[in-house]
Parts: sequence; structure tokens; C-alpha cells
Amino acid sequence: MIEDLWYKNAVIYSLDLETFMDVNGDGVGDFEGLCRRLDYLNSLGVDTVWLAPFQPSPNKDNGYDISDYYGVDRRHGSSGDFVEFMHQAKKRGIKVIMDLVVNHTSDQHPWFQEARNGKGSRYYDWYVWSEEKPSNWDEGMVFPGVQKATWTYDKKAGAYFFHRFFEHQPDLNMDNPEVRAEVYKIMGFWLELGVAGFRVDAVPFILESTVPGKDQHKLKFEYLREMRRFLQWRQGDAVLLGEANVLPEETQPYFGEEGDGIHLMFNFYVNQHVFYTLATADTEPLVKALEATKGLFPTAQWAQFLRNHDELDLGRLTEEQRQKVFARFGPEKHMQLYDRGIRRRLSPMLGSRQQTELAYSLMFSLPGTPVIRYGDEIGMGDDLTLEERDAVRTPMQWSDDTQAGFSTAKKLVHPIISEGPYSYTHVNTEEQRRNPESLLNWMTSLIRLRKECPEIGWGDWQILQTDTPQVLAMHYHWKGNSLIVLHNFDVQPHEVVLNLKQKQEEKLIDLMANYKSAVDEKGRHYITMEAYGYRWFRTGDLSHLLHRGKKGNSKQ
Ligand code: NOJ
Repeated sequence: MIEDLWYKNAVIYSLDLETFMDVNGDGVGDFEGLCRRLDYLNSLGVDTVWLAPFQPSPNKDNGYDISDYYGVDRRHGSSGDFVEFMHQAKKRGIKVIMDLVVNHTSDQHPWFQEARNGKGSRYYDWYVWSEEKPSNWDEGMVFPGVQKATWTYDKKAGAYFFHRFFEHQPDLNMDNPEVRAEVYKIMGFWLELGVAGFRVDAVPFILESTVPGKDQHKLKFEYLREMRRFLQWRQGDAVLLGEANVLPEETQPYFGEEGDGIHLMFNFYVNQHVFYTLATADTEPLVKALEATKGLFPTAQWAQFLRNHDELDLGRLTEEQRQKVFARFGPEKHMQLYDRGIRRRLSPMLGSRQQTELAYSLMFSLPGTPVIRYGDEIGMGDDLTLEERDAVRTPMQWSDDTQAGFSTAKKLVHPIISEGPYSYTHVNTEEQRRNPESLLNWMTSLIRLRKECPEIGWGDWQILQTDTPQVLAMHYHWKGNSLIVLHNFDVQPHEVVLNLKQKQEEKLIDLMANYKSAVDEKGRHYITMEAYGYRWFRTGDLSHLLHRGKKGNSKQ
């Protein structure tokens, strides 16, 4: 196995330029601002940044409605600012992944405007049309309750166009080889400017061959393989990180039988079961979800996450499970969205520091590559007075200065959270950097720890049996490294008995605290787990692999 697959043990930080740091004072974040915060990201331990769409856009869907694939939206700076940012990131060893949004364009994109001239126009076949009104024109909406249709009539074109998402986002016709060639040109353009890969938006929808009146569309996985071939030919170590909220049994063709599809895919299935377990302390469905998503091709990898810029989608849970999560984390109607999700940030949802730590410790210990969302490292809140998913898209809280140090402008792209327990006056990076007990400093240590446990990214794992169903115990091993991670989802403490029969695993070395478990003569370990507690242990006599501080070193 080739060990230079960098994405196997990366720590990815997702951010939106718009709300990260505004230097020119227009109320919208920019590349110059992001450059000034690279040292912050570096010291947090992040090695990969995923940038939400930053290209020119009418911005009706947070930038996921692009009107020019080859530029930078003026609100974020110039192409020069982008290149300068790439240079600064590279200097710090930080890789950059960007969104590749090619399922659709903005309706303001010149291609669509030209296509509207009707059949025979240069770009007509770049989109998906139907002259008749399709019988399923109001089916298959991604944003139920907000989006009214998937086929909309365009007067000028004299035909209906297909849009899986909002009406202002016409779908590109991926069956047209010219469109695919253009997509590769877009990828080639940004690769040439130094990006390390792409977060591919809406993968299943990119692959579907839409036929008016039909609900089930054939997915053309050969397009994904073609995309991968192009990417790897242009740049050997670049990656595709796919957004595809699919069932475990559907995942294989995305990764490709021979690992010739996407490299990484968000594990939405596990994500939803994590929240179920956080809500109920019932670990069984999570164990099943983990087992169901096990056994990937060696070069493939899950991306694990807790929250992102969208709603927390619970669509893969059973109705009963979903209601339990709603009841615990989004009990009020205005916290819920699209009949399937919750539009809240992590900390307010969980409501306590201890459970927030539990959730993050768990996420960083799950098989795959962790992805964190800007602001979650300081426990930022949400603003439920904002519309839909904007609730979780408020500006980063840097300090207790006016506008949280994000901008000097009076009016911002989204307002700062300035009231209540999550107000910038007490939740901000400046305060947390000084406070040794802060979530930020805790998160920095967790990231460092994750980096010291490569077996999570590379290794094989098993669930360890305990008699405590509220505790999840996982065992990783890889190249003589072995790791046991325990998480107690219960609000009650528990004593967990681990029966580690193998001799070489007799010793448990706590990687976070100075904790020693009691062992009996049969090799059974008795481990105390506090309410919402977590523990990471190295097993066996692997002390030479650990950083032990001064005392340990002086013995050598
Ligand atoms: C998925 C993105 O995560 C979401 O924010 C966006 O609205 C849709 N794709 C449409 O691009």
C-alpha cells in the first residue's frame, strides 16, 4: 500500500470566504482576509482547507449558483488575490480543495442565456429541455417546502428546463460530451492554479441522465471514472471528495470497483446515526452503520463530519429515529428544515461542552478523514431568525471588537451573533486562545492527537464487545500500531470491562489523560467512563511511539 495518499490522514477545514474574514471593509469576507487567518488555521493543525464556491455568482444559493467558472467573485477579491492566497497556503503546507459545482449553472450564466434562444442555439444542448410539460414537473425537489418544481417553463426558449435544485439553477446536460469537456477544462484551470482537488457537489445528480416524465434516472458512473482519469492524468495526487448522500449498498460504484471513482466521500449515513446515538445513547444503530460502510477499496476513504453549511439531513434514519433526534436537538418547528433536517450549529444543538467534546472526539476517531466546519472549533451558535440554511452561516467570531473582528462594515453579508450564550462578546477566538481550558485549545490538542494516530486513516478496525451498550469501543490496528477508543454516550457514568486477551495488548496507555485502568489476572481491564466521557488508549508496549515529555526522554 502506498503511504503517500495524503488524504488518508488529512484534517480538512471547511469555510466560506464570504463569512470568514473581511479586510476591505465591504461586509463580505475576502481572500486577503483568509490570507491573514492562515496562521490561525496552521496553528489549529489544519492541513487542508475546503473553500465553498467563490466564483462570480448572483449568490442566490450561497454561491452554489455560478455564472463564470473561470474567475473570482469581485466581492472576494481578484484572481491575483486568489493566487496570492494559494502561494501563502502552500508556504504553510496547507492544501486547498475547492467546490466543483457542475450539476448546474446559475440561470445568469452566459451559456444558459444563450441556450434560451432555443433549439439550434450554440448552448441549447448544454442544458436539459422538454418541449412538453413533463408529468413529473413537480416531483423530486431537493428543497421541499421551498422549491416548487423540477421543470420550469422558459418563455424565450419555448420549452421546460430541468433543475434538480432551485429554479435559478438549470441542470447542465452531462450526456453532452461538450459539457464534459468543459468540466475538465474547469478542473484543469484550477489545478493549474494549485488546488489539491475538488469537493464535487451533488454527485448523484451530475451522473443522472434525465428523461422527462421518468422518476428513476440511470446513473452514468462512467462519467465519474472519466473525471477521475482526467484529474489523475493532470495531477497525480489531486483528489475528488464527493457529496453523495446515498445508502451503504449504493456506495461502491461511486468509489469505483478498482478505486477508479472518487477518492473520498462524505459519510452521510454514519453522520445521521452519530446524531441518533448522541440523542439516545443507543449505540447499536451506529455500530450497524459503521459496519455497513466498512470494507472500502484500499485507496478509497470516508470523510467524516458532524455539521456542514447545509441542514443536518436526517433523511436516512427511520421515522421513529428521526423523531427522536428532532425531539432532542431540534424540537421546535423553526429549527427544522425541508421535512428532514435541522438547521442548527453543533454546540447549541448539543447544549453542553461535555457532549460537544464527546461528539468531536468520536468524529475524529471514526474510520476516515475528519472534516470540521469553521466556527465549530470555538463552539459558535446559530441565528434562527435568518432564513433556511443561513442560520448556520453567520460570520466567524474572531474577537469581542465591533462586528466580532470580522469586518469594519456596518452592514454585513449576514449579521453577527450578538445576543445570548453564543454572542461574539464571549464566544470568539481571541478569548479562547488565551484561555487554556477553552474549546479551541481542546480542539487543537485533539487535532494533534488525531495526527499521531495514523491507524485511524489507514488501519483496519473492529468494534469491541463490552457489556455497556451506551459505550462504543473501537479497536484500530495498522503496522504494529494499535489504538482503542471509547465513547460513553450516556449522561450516567459507567465502568466498562474490556477483555484484551492477547498478551501484547495488556497495557493501555491513555493518550489524553493520566488515567490507568485496573487490570485483573485474566487480563480484563476495568475502565471508568464519566458521563459523556471519552478515552483514547494505545495498547501494548508501544511507548517508543509516544511523546512522553521530559521525564520519558531523560530515561532514554
Ligand atoms: C449541495 C450544497 O451543499 C448545497 O449547499 C447547495 O444548495 C446544493 N448542492 C446545490 O448546489
